[in-house]
Amino acid sequence: MQTPAAPIPSAQPLMDLVTGFWASKVLAVANKLNLFTDLCESGGMTVSEFSQRYNIQPRPAEMLLTACAALGLLEKRNDRYTNSQLSEHYLVRDNPLYFGGWIEMADRREYPAWMQLEKALRNNCPQTWDPNKQNSLFDAEDPELVHDFWEAMYALSITTAQKLLQVIDFSTTRYLLDVGGGGAAFDIVFCKRYPKLKSAVYDLPFVCELTRPKIDKAGLAKRIVLIEGNFFTDPYLPYGHEVILLSRILLDWNEDDCQMIIEKCHRALVPGGRLVICDQFVNDSKDGPVGAALMSLNMLIETWGRNYTGAEYGSWLKKAGFTRIETVQFDAPAANGAIIGYKSALSSMPIRYET
Ligand SMILES: C[S@@+](CC[C@H](N)C(=O)[O-])C[C@H]1O[C@@H](n2cnc3c(N)ncnc32)[C@H](O)[C@@H]1O
Repeated sequence: MQTPAAPIPSAQPLMDLVTGFWASKVLAVANKLNLFTDLCESGGMTVSEFSQRYNIQPRPAEMLLTACAALGLLEKRNDRYTNSQLSEHYLVRDNPLYFGGWIEMADRREYPAWMQLEKALRNNCPQTWDPNKQNSLFDAEDPELVHDFWEAMYALSITTAQKLLQVIDFSTTRYLLDVGGGGAAFDIVFCKRYPKLKSAVYDLPFVCELTRPKIDKAGLAKRIVLIEGNFFTDPYLPYGHEVILLSRILLDWNEDDCQMIIEKCHRALVPGGRLVICDQFVNDSKDGPVGAALMSLNMLIETWGRNYTGAEYGSWLKKAGFTRIETVQFDAPAANGAIIGYKSALSSMPIRYET
């Protein structure tokens, strides 16, 4: 007996994949126009008001506003367009959860570089910088690009940090070290949540300079310190912290570098301390999830690293000496979970860091 043929699947998922960049560009352009911030201030606009304000003819003006509404970025009542809840929370400049930094960087830096995806696959080489001229993407000298990059990291991390707090309890932690802490988004969110927590952002000197105003603006200069350093050239990381955070650090580096950084973290933690690795983890079966798999290709475009699996992290943590390993899952823009390595309470005191 013949088995019935499986029904032919719809081609719609393919259409959605092919046109993904249309939606991405609509968001990027509307954000660049400052539309969401202007709508927040003005309380709404008709097509004709939009057309006059941005000097865009009525035909394209109507098309853009219609697309923004269709994508859930705007709402239309009568003939006026206003921000949706999503845009009001994340796309209005100066809001604490402003996401536009990442939109700007994705559009200006990642979008052109992804045009070179095939080249990146064939050459196994980053596309956003020249490996003959720079050691890593963090050697960039263009000030505009540097500004864009860390604004993007901050935008991604400010919401991710809040999600991490929902699954990990830091109420007993007094000292946290945020290795490669970038814009200090995690430290700001954590210190606001836990009034007794003190935190240190350890990052490259020029990044610390960029981060200082964010800490000052948050009014946390007395509780978040900046430590200039380089985890490749410093023999030890600053010691004496109960928690070390690595948020979206190891995906930038190759496997040997990851092992080395994890070992330095283990050495620097107090006995009984925790290393929290927060990232987008690829499944151990290496068939998803989509966000991590695509971020991994973004790492092909940007770095010598990739998004690693929980099993890979587990083996590095064990090799570094962590005695217990836990995993928590959550859903955030820049992470789908965290892997926590516990340092034995019986280990010797960490090595003092000489500045
Ligand atoms: C992808 S960003 C993540 C930033 C931050 N942890 C977050 O999640 O928002 C990587 C960070 O690693 C820092 N970094 C890169 N190389 C470093 C090094 N050799 N030593 C210390 N930090 C470094 C970068 O400056 C940057 O802030």
